[in-house]
Amino acid sequence: IPVEDFDLVIFGGTGDLARRKILPGLFRRYLSGQMPVESRIIGAARSDIDSDGYRTMIKEAILEFGGEESQDSNGLDAFLAQIEYVPIDAKGEGGWVELAELVRNDVVQAFYFSVAPSLFGDLAERLHRHKIASATSRIVVEKPFGRDLESARKLNDVLALHFDEGQIYRIDHYLGKETVQNLMAVRFGNVLFEPLWNNHYVDHIQITVAETVGVGGRGSYYDKSGAMRDMVQNHLMQLLCLIAMEPPSQFGADEVRDEKLKVIRALEPIMPHHIVRGQYENSANGPSYREDAENPRSHTESFVAMKCHISNWRWSGVPFYLRTGKRLKARTSEIAVVFKPLGHSIFEGQEEQQNILAIHLQPNEGIDLQVTIKEPGPGGMRLVNVPLDMTFAEALGDSDVEVTDAYERLIMDVIRGNQTLFMRGDEVEAAWGWTDPIIEGWEARNDVPKTYSAGSSGPDDALMLLHRDGRKWREIKG
Ligand code: BG6
Repeated sequence: IPVEDFDLVIFGGTGDLARRKILPGLFRRYLSGQMPVESRIIGAARSDIDSDGYRTMIKEAILEFGGEESQDSNGLDAFLAQIEYVPIDAKGEGGWVELAELVRNDVVQAFYFSVAPSLFGDLAERLHRHKIASATSRIVVEKPFGRDLESARKLNDVLALHFDEGQIYRIDHYLGKETVQNLMAVRFGNVLFEPLWNNHYVDHIQITVAETVGVGGRGSYYDKSGAMRDMVQNHLMQLLCLIAMEPPSQFGADEVRDEKLKVIRALEPIMPHHIVRGQYENSANGPSYREDAENPRSHTESFVAMKCHISNWRWSGVPFYLRTGKRLKARTSEIAVVFKPLGHSIFEGQEEQQNILAIHLQPNEGIDLQVTIKEPGPGGMRLVNVPLDMTFAEALGDSDVEVTDAYERLIMDVIRGNQTLFMRGDEVEAAWGWTDPIIEGWEARNDVPKTYSAGSSGPDDALMLLHRDGRKWREIKG
């Protein structure tokens, strides 16, 4: 889909996210021909450098983080020519007049707030006072969007003073991942799955987001957040919504977000014995959480596993098991829909097998379906369980699969004005409304997380959570 001319202002343009993700992503879109020649990217930050200095900084960042494409030096120079920089004081008056002169009124305007949420109000107010933003401008904000319901509401209120909901793009980069969108294509683009997608046929659903990285280097942020705020309230909740929501009437922003919101509202409060918090201990695989976070007494969780229930006709009685953690055995994110066992087998000696539809987000994006077939050969009716594997890169032929990073996809959606893959304000608030009591319960009890060895599958109690129900987690493997 073609993109109109745009001016994209990145507040926090010299920051980590801008250098690692936003600019390299934009460069790849540029190389794919999605950045019209008249379009501009304007970095704005506190550093007192000029546009040339900024271009040098961005060139270095793209060479470091941009992957193979960054070797295209002609392309890189042409891309850099479309970049400007303005030193700006978010809380003062410096730089705003210059920015107002630079940003054009007759093209798509997008303002990326890649800054601390405490500055959102200052930026929004100045964009208006200096008449830089208009009723059609878009603003992009990042997580963390608050740290509880109250702070999220305040942020929504501050933004709402100057922008309509239709102008606000709240990023959850999990929604930009290729397979997350494929999940919707599989559910709603096929006749095969949707009739089975309910409590008559589904035994349970597992959502796993396992990471091998620890929190080293980000301890000061992470230690005040923990896995619940950092991963569950946003990324895991979004995956849960997409897997559980009713079919929207069309793939439109409000239709999809209305259905996701209904899922969050139907979530039952979690019982304390249905949730396990963990924290990694040192092992041959690396230091402990407390060492990484430089807080020897920390009670922050680096792992959460939980059993959730959605109170509606479709899902009543079907547990959703969610887990996420740092420094686990392998990096893998997947959603597994585990179907009920056969009621009756006509094959003598058939072991109980369950069909599983596994949606792999990363690595090796793809989908596989475990089915039972006859083992080939003359040995009689022997049954085996095999995956019908659809790794996208193989199925579509490597050369046809363009690897699009979540950020590049989402930024282009901002320019196109498509909010489908962004969180609406009420959704974010509803998600905090569900996680707040869990976190408050831990704080009130001064709950101490269970320990697990760095490089393992998490604490034993997390295994027990399923074991008690006669089920088991899928193996964490990369
Ligand atoms: C971020 C979290 O939102 O997502 C990080 O703050 C986490 O703690 C990251 O590591 C995971 O993203 P991805 O795309 O690497 O799975």
